[in-house]
Amino acid sequence: MSTFNLNGVTKKTDTDEDIDDIDFSKLLEKPRPLNIDRLLSLDERSLTELSTSPQLRNAENAPRLLHDCVASPSIGFNTPRSVHGFESHPMVGEAWDALRRSMVYFRGQPVGTIAAVDNSEEKLNYDQVFVRDFVPSALAFLMNGETEIVRNFLLKTLRLQSWEKKIDRFQLGEGVMPASFKVFHDPVRNHETLIADFGESAIGRVAPVDSGFWWIILLRAYTKSTGDSSLADMPDCQKGIRLILSLCLSEGFDTFPTLLCADGCCMIDRRMGVYGYPIEIQALFFMSLRCALLLLKPEGEGKEMVEQIVKRLHALSYHMRSYFWLDLKQLNDIYRYKTEEYSHTAVNKFNVIPDSLPEWVFDFMPPNGGFFIGNVSPARMDFRWFALGNCIAILSSLATPEQSTAIMDLIEARWEELVGEMPLKVCYPAIESHEWKIVTGCDPKNTRWSYHNGGSWPVLLWLLTAACIKTGRPQIARRAIEVAEARLHKDNWPEYYDGTVGRYVGKQARKCQTWSIAGYLVAKMMLEDPSHVGMVALEEDKQMKPVMRRSNSWTC
Ligand code: GLC
Repeated sequence: MSTFNLNGVTKKTDTDEDIDDIDFSKLLEKPRPLNIDRLLSLDERSLTELSTSPQLRNAENAPRLLHDCVASPSIGFNTPRSVHGFESHPMVGEAWDALRRSMVYFRGQPVGTIAAVDNSEEKLNYDQVFVRDFVPSALAFLMNGETEIVRNFLLKTLRLQSWEKKIDRFQLGEGVMPASFKVFHDPVRNHETLIADFGESAIGRVAPVDSGFWWIILLRAYTKSTGDSSLADMPDCQKGIRLILSLCLSEGFDTFPTLLCADGCCMIDRRMGVYGYPIEIQALFFMSLRCALLLLKPEGEGKEMVEQIVKRLHALSYHMRSYFWLDLKQLNDIYRYKTEEYSHTAVNKFNVIPDSLPEWVFDFMPPNGGFFIGNVSPARMDFRWFALGNCIAILSSLATPEQSTAIMDLIEARWEELVGEMPLKVCYPAIESHEWKIVTGCDPKNTRWSYHNGGSWPVLLWLLTAACIKTGRPQIARRAIEVAEARLHKDNWPEYYDGTVGRYVGKQARKCQTWSIAGYLVAKMMLEDPSHVGMVALEEDKQMKPVMRRSNSWTC
């Protein structure tokens, strides 16, 4: 365990609960004393004690206890297949077997999991280890005390980052992490090498902007789970974090603190109208900035980066909470917006024309509830609801506690639309007809209510469950898991489902899709032991109060 000193504030870099509670706004200001007594007593409590405590085993108590739980590393867990009756549902055992079959070895060491073990379809790149896809696998392994594969994965992908990356004659940024990699076996030399894809082979040559963020988030989850900060403290890892974030924090022509992206930059890796400032990337950006703050040693180059991160977090949370947030009141305000306002007094800062508001959003918005919309840029608000961005907003505390509650309220209120017969819609609603032609470029894979266009992705179950536990609503997750259990295994773990309520196995969905399997396992293990959520959840920064925009209706 290492300590560092920033402006007189001594911080430990791993299992310290105050680290998670870190008030980044104050980091650059005055020193803050740590509650060492409390820290020690928590560190001294055995994890078995925590995980077997009757209070904790009752998931309803999760929110109150979560804070205590996350202070302890989750090492020392026995295999979840043998404790707490995890195998009570036969699917769990099957899922572990399937997950193990997806493991990829490099020179005898486990380094990741293949995207899908499905030989019936054309492989394309589903025989690769995707960075984003490995995250739920990694969490399942960490929860099961199997840390080696996660460590190897983090180190191998870090090595890949240092490769020279080129698309045609254009060289990509140093910090770019691969979308995926595979092990190439040379039968002549009987030698294994890694082959990585940074977007130069990907369909559409799309950039994996999310990969670097997931890498940082996973590094923090590993550190949290094992209580071992030696990996994150390695100079190479510190440099890796800095390189990833340098890509995002460099100065340019930006007028917003959000990150400008091309289409296909994330889980939705095809043209789907997510270009601009997609919520998925903004939420992952925010979360990885907060994780980096916990992992970076603020000395030398790290110190400068910590300062940049602190500033960006302030601006980013203000921007997101003010302009991406939509609830009934906000919707009504936008509906009544005046346009063509010039100067600092403008209420409708981005000049959104009320006539551009889609019809569906008025019916979709429940009286209680809200969400972060898909995208905000000049004269454009994409009102679509995206699962990943909203769940990560809750987990990272980009959403205030009130906003987090509202996001869960909306999921409950729009259960049929968002969960339906298979959790969870990647986005809502689907784009249809002429709009589909224009927005997707007539993509036959992304027809309405299919794949990335309103399809239902079982992998999202782990994110929903984590968000439910963090907001103290485990019963919602339980309900969603029950829905998934009715079909997921019977259908052989499809990648996605199609249809307005997710009733049909997706048109071109792979079977035995690893992240569908791992997502289910992670959801089950989190519900069983809510302390696991601490690996992927950050407590609210108390200083980061929401700043609401002045709106017309407030000024009369
Ligand atoms: C599809 C998904 C992408 C995923 C990949 C591998 O391309 O859109 O998110 O990483 O498959 O499963």
